[in-house]
Order: sequence, then C-alpha cells, then structure tokens
Amino acid sequence: MSKTDNVAAKTKEIVKKHGGDKSTLIAVLQDIQEAFNYLPKEALKAAGKAMNIPLSRVYEVATFYNAFSLKPRGEHIVKICMGTACHVRGAAAIQDKMERTLNIKPGETTADKKFSLETVNCVGACALGPVVVINTEYHGQMTMAKVDKVIGKLKEGAQQ
Ligand code: FES
Repeated sequence: MSKTDNVAAKTKEIVKKHGGDKSTLIAVLQDIQEAFNYLPKEALKAAGKAMNIPLSRVYEVATFYNAFSLKPRGEHIVKICMGTACHVRGAAAIQDKMERTLNIKPGETTADKKFSLETVNCVGACALGPVVVINTEYHGQMTMAKVDKVIGKLKEGAQQ
C-alpha cells in the first residue's frame, strides 16, 4: 500500500467514525491532524470525497482555523503562549531562547522533523505564565534553564 493509499484509508476510517455527516467536518479534520500531525493534501481530498463536500470547502475550513496546519510538522509541537499575561511575564524572552535552542522561527520545523515551533494566544493557564505547551503537556513558569532542560530531554528521547 502506498503512503497516499494509507492516508486515504485512515481518513475514510476517521470519517466513518464520525458518521460521515457534513456537519462533522471540523471533528474529522481534528482527528486527521492528530493522526498525521498536519492535514495532508490526500487526506483532505479523501475526506471531501467521503463526505460529499467540495474540496474547495474543505480547504476553506482547513485554512480558517489557526489550529490546523497544512504543512508537515515535527514530532514535537512547541507552542509558546503570547497572550497578555504570558507576555508581561517574559514570553518574548522565552520565544527568543526557544528559537535559538531549536534554531528555527515560529511556523518552522527543524530539518530532522523533530520539532515545530508555533506561537499561540492565551492557552488558559495565565497564572502559570509564561507558558509553553509541548504536544499536550503544559510547562508553566518557564525560564531559560527550563527551556534547555525540557528540550534537552526531548532531544535525548528522540535519539533513543
Ligand atoms: S496568557 Fe498565556 S496562558 Fe493566558
């Protein structure tokens, strides 16, 4: 089975799980992104076909929400909160440190596809600011040292 077939098969499975109704498109896209870490073109095509939604409409929804990515992303998604509370507690310095540690800018992915960096608005944990969310894990009261520690750990884990 080719990669494209795999993506299409997995997408059909996801559409089926949600019942196939047009109103479930966002939930379907969320699951596709969870499965592949982004929304592959083949998956959008397969979802549109299976749900009887024009591809242009699927793209419209996929590009409307910031949470969706049409570009391949790394194994670990690093999100730096740039909301007001985190901003006043030094989020910009954390972003700068993260950019230097990973050697990428927000919106980019490392060459080894291990990390993607993103900036986001308030993630709802203002009391813990500045906050960095890595995959689904929240890291509060971030400092330069914590950035080194947390990224170092993931890099080590990545080599195992
Ligand atoms: S502003 Fe960062 S969690 Fe609210």
